[in-house]
Amino acid sequence: MNKVRKWLPFALMITLAAFSFIYFILFGDNEPYFPETSDPDIIYQEACVQCHGKNGEGSGILYPAFDHSELSLEIIRQNIKEGTWLMPRFKNINGDTLNLLSDYIYQKKYLK
Ligand code: HEC
Repeated sequence: MNKVRKWLPFALMITLAAFSFIYFILFGDNEPYFPETSDPDIIYQEACVQCHGKNGEGSGILYPAFDHSELSLEIIRQNIKEGTWLMPRFKNINGDTLNLLSDYIYQKKYLK
């Protein structure tokens, strides 16, 4: 029992380090996306499709569909700009480009 107690903090630290490492590799800002156009259709194909699907249908349980949901423009903007714990943030999408893209999602224009 005493031995377990002694090693527990180290075990926790190592576990934490391992998780942070994986998290950073997967979701760190190591590959920022730079939009080369302000056309939301192209940006969606380049930066969003792999997780959210061609028609916003999502993919599996991890990547949510947004075709069904009524999201506010503000939430959409915030998701793109700041990301979440699972979604990378797109800090290079801003200004008019961000407005156009948010609108594109808001009006479900990916549903062609
Ligand atoms: C690496 C995968 C990934 C990419 C790439 C990605 N997303 Fe996401 N997105 C997610 C995940 C995962 C969530 C759910 C996050 C959560 O609930 O914490 C999410 C949530 C969202 C939401 C909120 C949906 C809801 O129902 O609350 C919006 C809007 C959104 N993403 C838009 C975008 C846009 C626009 C792009 C492209 C610029 C994009 N995403 C790129 C993974 C991704």
